[in-house]
Amino acid sequence: AIRRVVAREIIDSRGNPTVEVDVELGDGSLGRAAVPSGASTGAREAVELRDSDPARFHGKGVRRAVDAVNETVADAVTGLDAEDQATVDHTMIELDGTGTKSRLGANALLGVSLATAKAAAAAHRLPLYRYVGGVDARLLPVPMMNIVNGGAHADNPLDFQEFMIAPIGAATFAEAVRMGSEVFHTLRGNLIAAGHSVNVGDEGGFAPDLRTADEALDFVVRAIEQTGYKPGTDITLVMDPASSEFFHDETYDYTGEGIRRTPAEHADYLATLVDSYPVASIEDPMAEDDHDGWRDLTARLGNRCQLTGDDVFCTNETLLRAGIRDGIANSILVKVNQIGTLTETLATVATAHRAGYTVVMSHRSGETEDTTIADLAVATGCGQIKTGSLSRADRTAKYNQLVRIEEELGTQARYAGREALGLRRS
Ligand code: PGA
Ligand code: ZN
Repeated sequence: AIRRVVAREIIDSRGNPTVEVDVELGDGSLGRAAVPSGASTGAREAVELRDSDPARFHGKGVRRAVDAVNETVADAVTGLDAEDQATVDHTMIELDGTGTKSRLGANALLGVSLATAKAAAAAHRLPLYRYVGGVDARLLPVPMMNIVNGGAHADNPLDFQEFMIAPIGAATFAEAVRMGSEVFHTLRGNLIAAGHSVNVGDEGGFAPDLRTADEALDFVVRAIEQTGYKPGTDITLVMDPASSEFFHDETYDYTGEGIRRTPAEHADYLATLVDSYPVASIEDPMAEDDHDGWRDLTARLGNRCQLTGDDVFCTNETLLRAGIRDGIANSILVKVNQIGTLTETLATVATAHRAGYTVVMSHRSGETEDTTIADLAVATGCGQIKTGSLSRADRTAKYNQLVRIEEELGTQARYAGREALGLRRS
């Protein structure tokens, strides 16, 4: 049973405060989890509680969430069975009572939820992926590596937020990491040769002074080829335009390019990119409020491209069910802090899988050294993870954890490969 719960304020990868929670069980087993934080957040995400006290951390302190754990949640969950994750999570949800977790904070609840699972795993002397996923948990995800950053994650003019490479042709996860690293360094050299900065953005990708998606994709494709890989076969392209960020007044406002596109023109542009480049997956191609645009694009591109809903679903099972009913997307991005508990996260994953939607486990742009999502990707067998570039320890920590899991699974391990994205066998 849970004996002690302690929360504290720590620092995330952007130097902003976030919540870390320790859960200790009666047998002495310990679980620790740190909570991530987004920059381009969906409007319907569970509420991240911040202090709004300008005297501390420019108002971004999380003392209220920390106090919520130490003074309220701790009492309510102490004595509960840590293995009964659903009861622990529902106890917190009821205690909060708001539906959006705005009273205690989703950051408070998530810390306790994940730390509880990790403590229970420790009590069983099991790695987290095995404790949550059982003996069938042996599928290593295809990593979507974000090697060019733009949008809200960098200060360059690129309107689209993320340009990623996914080494679908690798034989193992470790090989996927090697392939990604090699392309990352080829790209670095090419950017230097072209006179660009190679400083990195929030997710560890380069943030060169490029204006259009075509320019970014050209650089990425060239880097893949020069490294000796075949674009589309060995390594495929993935984009996250994060379209909600630049959708205003029914218009997609490309400020970097200096043009506006109607939803139809925006969809045409995306279709052109899919025709011109080996793009196998686009996340948030349309804005969270542009449901007509989402439905039209899914009908148009959904049979040849993975279309992943991030802001439009917010890892929320109810929003996902509505989207499935309305023909929106064919894939969902899963971010634990968008919903705030492990139980709800796993329910959303199960609903997606039942509907034939693919699932991508994901970090946030604000991360810590916590690697829980690496284990959850294997536990759910979702086959895909998005956790940034091949730099910044907050990103590489997840890749390194997956390398360890693959090693531990030995001959049991299987790399998801191209079929994970809904692509046919080559
Ligand atoms: P965020 O961005 O963590 O800043 O919200 C990630 C994403 O949009 O996928
Ligand atoms: Zn996104």
